[in-house]
Amino acid sequence: MGARNKVAELLERASRLREAGRPAQAASMCRKALAADPASVDALCLLGTLLAGTGDLAGAETHLRRAHRLRPDSDVVMINLGTLARLKGDLRGGIEWYERALATGSGNPAVDANLGSAYLNAGRDADAEPHLRRHLAQHPGHFAALCLLGDALRGQQRLDEAAAQYRLALALEPGSIEARHALAACIGEAPESAPASYARQVFDTYAPSYDEHYGAALESNGPRAVREAVQARCAGRRDLRALDLGCGTGLAGAALRPLSARLVGVDVSPGMLAVARRKGLYDELVERDAMAYLAGAAEAFDLVVAQDVFPYLGALAQPLGAARRIAAPGALLVCTLESTQAGDWRLGAGLRYAHSRAHVERAATAAGWDVVAVEDFAFRKEASGWTAGWVVTLGA
Ligand SMILES: C[S@@+](CC[C@H](N)C(=O)[O-])C[C@H]1O[C@@H](n2cnc3c(N)ncnc32)[C@H](O)[C@@H]1O
Repeated sequence: MGARNKVAELLERASRLREAGRPAQAASMCRKALAADPASVDALCLLGTLLAGTGDLAGAETHLRRAHRLRPDSDVVMINLGTLARLKGDLRGGIEWYERALATGSGNPAVDANLGSAYLNAGRDADAEPHLRRHLAQHPGHFAALCLLGDALRGQQRLDEAAAQYRLALALEPGSIEARHALAACIGEAPESAPASYARQVFDTYAPSYDEHYGAALESNGPRAVREAVQARCAGRRDLRALDLGCGTGLAGAALRPLSARLVGVDVSPGMLAVARRKGLYDELVERDAMAYLAGAAEAFDLVVAQDVFPYLGALAQPLGAARRIAAPGALLVCTLESTQAGDWRLGAGLRYAHSRAHVERAATAAGWDVVAVEDFAFRKEASGWTAGWVVTLGA
């Protein structure tokens, strides 16, 4: 068998092993292919992708860069380098690679799909739309791309058009609670609480670039507002039993660490928790839906923080009631919320719930909390301008 045929056969076996969920064996098959032909771009590319999937980003980079040096005009190699950059938290770098892949003029619909999704991640909904449409023109039955196009239209407030895309997606996968939730927001039929699987999906994708994007692009004041509210009442403490609900990557948790003898973080997104784990801030990290955690927790806490988490949960009666159950005598709860002036709460087109002051005060009091403070603040900078929020402090 010629070297080329041998490499092709080994790579075919590697692809089958990858599809069967056996990445280590697939990688070893790629290495055999590279032993037969060290300049095989396909083998370098597949091995790079496999290593990235197992978290070996440095190894992935070595192989993908080599593939790029060998075939500098390959759009497939550029797509893989873009995806690697995103995994490293460099969304801008990822977009640059995808744009270079687009400039090759290959017409590969995968370039459009990746560029569309990256633009969406960067909050560039209008830029994402034409790429997602181009991808869908080639792959009209691609469920994920239909949902992404729905998201791009929803982000531009074109709610009827977005609803049409979610309906197409639901016709393909009627069981998708995430698509159903997004459709509900577009047609004004918001449920009282959001499915936790929606947040998991969103934040797993968002996790690698979260710290950069949340702080820099959104200029979120949430972590700082929580830090100031906690410092105002707990400065000098070292003994707190603190719970960071929806802890994400630990942006709010960092301020709790010096005050806490025990710090627990809970989040539904394994991607966000992986970033938090690397920072070494928490005594315990729990991957669970916040409501399920609160319902089952056996320990009491002196401080519960929920920084930008309730906007993903829904109406406040249940979460505040469940949090009150695990509050030690004299405990504090500090949370940030998106504010609305009308009614109790509403689900915005961005799939975030906003709450009114009256709703916060009523739900907190009914749950047995004393309302210490409900202060307004400039929360996050969205494409349409600053979103207003509340910093809420409750006492047990
Ligand atoms: C905007 S981030 C805020 C993260 C962190 N608190 C901070 O200050 O950066 C929202 C977080 O809430 C988490 N989340 C949303 N819904 C959740 C749920 N039902 N249960 C647990 N975590 C949830 C998300 O996974 C995400 O990490």
